[in-house]
Amino acid sequence: MPESDERDLPPLGAQDYSETQDWPSYFGAVLGKGPRATLTTALDSFTREGVADGLAVDVAAGEGRDTLELLQRGWRVVATDFHAEAFTHLWPRVPESQKQLLTALQVSFEETHIPPCDLVNASYAFPFCEPRHFGGLWDRVVAAIRPGGRLAGQFFGKEDSWAALPGRTHHDRDEIMQLLEGFQIEMMEVEEADDTPDVRNPKHWQLFHVVAKKL
Ligand SMILES: C[S@@+](CC[C@H](N)C(=O)[O-])C[C@H]1O[C@@H](n2cnc3c(N)ncnc32)[C@H](O)[C@@H]1O
Repeated sequence: MPESDERDLPPLGAQDYSETQDWPSYFGAVLGKGPRATLTTALDSFTREGVADGLAVDVAAGEGRDTLELLQRGWRVVATDFHAEAFTHLWPRVPESQKQLLTALQVSFEETHIPPCDLVNASYAFPFCEPRHFGGLWDRVVAAIRPGGRLAGQFFGKEDSWAALPGRTHHDRDEIMQLLEGFQIEMMEVEEADDTPDVRNPKHWQLFHVVAKKL
């Protein structure tokens, strides 16, 4: 049987690089994309409350799509990621006048110290934390957010195809609700979908897009 020719296959995309945790290729594939809706929803809620800026911790910030938005809105940002290439993409795109607002820390989830803050932004981050480190990370997230502050980001569900991959952290709705005890949930959108065949490695998606305010 002839081997399938790479040229006949759909091109590799950001999700394929996430699946294999090829982060440099992921950064290249998403470079220049806008901020996540969970982040802008949280920021708009602060604005409606008259809070114009504050301190945000962008956990696993990647190439910096959300960090750039926070800086542009005048927030101070601690951006963390374990991959050095995240910051080689981020720093050159930070306007000179905003550079003093940014602290970039190359740390893994288990090493991530989260200072007291107004917002923890964790976009597409938690599923990549190994289960044995998630509890500690979560405790630090909750402890860091001031009352009235917010968490924005995604949890991946247990029905998501990637739940079967080793080292991933996925939660069902009940577990997410338990984690968010002590928060008022402002947004909880479930995204449940199957990829079409034009994706290289089609998968089932089950994502929970969350914005929650600490009581
Ligand atoms: C899917 S990307 C999300 C990046 C960005 N927040 C976004 O919304 O596009 C996952 C990020 O997690 C980071 N990451 C993966 N494993 C990690 C670990 N053990 N510790 C810290 N960061 C990690 C990767 O470098 C990557 O930037």
